Amino acid sequence: MFQGQPALPSASTHTAINASAFHTFGLHSTVAGFRSIQTMGCVQALANAERAGLQPILIGQGSNTVFVSTEVQRCLWQMNIKGKTKLGTDAGCYILRAMAGENWHEWVEWTLAQGYPGLENLALIPGTVGASPVQNIGAYGLELAERIHAVHVWNTQAQCLEVLKTKDCAFAYRDSIFKQQVGLRYIIVAVDFALPIAWQPKLDYADLRKGLLQPPSLSPSAWDVFHAVCAIRTAKLPDPKHLGNSGSFFKNPWVSAQHAAQLLQQFPNMPHYPMPTEHVKLAAGWLIEQCGFKGTAHGRVGVYAKQALVLCNLGQATGPELQQLIGTITQKVKARFGVMLEVEPVLI
Ligand code: EPU
Repeated sequence: MFQGQPALPSASTHTAINASAFHTFGLHSTVAGFRSIQTMGCVQALANAERAGLQPILIGQGSNTVFVSTEVQRCLWQMNIKGKTKLGTDAGCYILRAMAGENWHEWVEWTLAQGYPGLENLALIPGTVGASPVQNIGAYGLELAERIHAVHVWNTQAQCLEVLKTKDCAFAYRDSIFKQQVGLRYIIVAVDFALPIAWQPKLDYADLRKGLLQPPSLSPSAWDVFHAVCAIRTAKLPDPKHLGNSGSFFKNPWVSAQHAAQLLQQFPNMPHYPMPTEHVKLAAGWLIEQCGFKGTAHGRVGVYAKQALVLCNLGQATGPELQQLIGTITQKVKARFGVMLEVEPVLI
């Protein structure tokens, strides 16, 4: 599966090109060139560019990357290696492999259609399979790390393929080794998933349970969960095809139990989720809404009316406008709650 001809990248240009079509926020920005990665040869070419200090930018479908600079003097490389297959079984799970350039939602649908449930809670998340372990995507009661068997990477320093097991990936809430300095040497080329043979629906998220009860479903199938998740996402989150956005723009912040207790005295209705580490996770969307931002426009950028955690491009927005809104929101939340919000997507 990894045998690619060491060919030159299949698509390339050396003139500055518009990057707005390559990231879902859609800000106007130019990059120095574009390469489509379709073989392992292209992966090696990308690694060479990296080692030569050219700082190539690797994207999947650009749903977690935002080009805030108007002119970026770096080349854009898009991961487009395709392929999906079932490998076998291991420790009570079906093991399935998807190559990094597969569309995430189509992959979820394919696994269900083949009769391998387990990823349905993560339906409709924009982006690619290769990007999914980077931020350890999570939604509606499931984190990707729970379903990963191994991540296949090209090590740009050792110049070889490596297989990282789940324990090597340092998965945490919206975090992994691929976001850390040590992980920057890895180019993800494929992901192996472990999907439980004895599947049970994951219904921890209250809105999902509610969605499945209309009409009543005592033992929902994976497809029921899939459709319920799609319905919730469609109702709450904007489709980037119609309104530029990058999903959750901030991570849900973790604070000490003491800090959370102080806030709860003042704001008894504040959503809060105790974590195993004795921290408490707060809902960034709630904090932002309490500061009055929900549904507001700030020039050509705005805060989505149905989910304050999502910032949007209202049309022809610029990087500086977005950065100004990020600054305004983070300062106000910090002043009101003493909590520093952290931007989730990568800003270029
Ligand atoms: N809330 C508000 N106002 C808002 C938004 C949320 O008060 O404008 C409150 C909700 O009422 C709820 C709490 O905040 O009590 C949490 O909201 P929600 O369940 O909508 O989830 P979230 O924490 O805002 C996270 C993920 C989403 C994921 C949902 C569902 C992060 C950064 N975001 O959002 O992920 O879909 O949970 O599991 O963890 C994404 O990453 O792009 C994304 C959409």
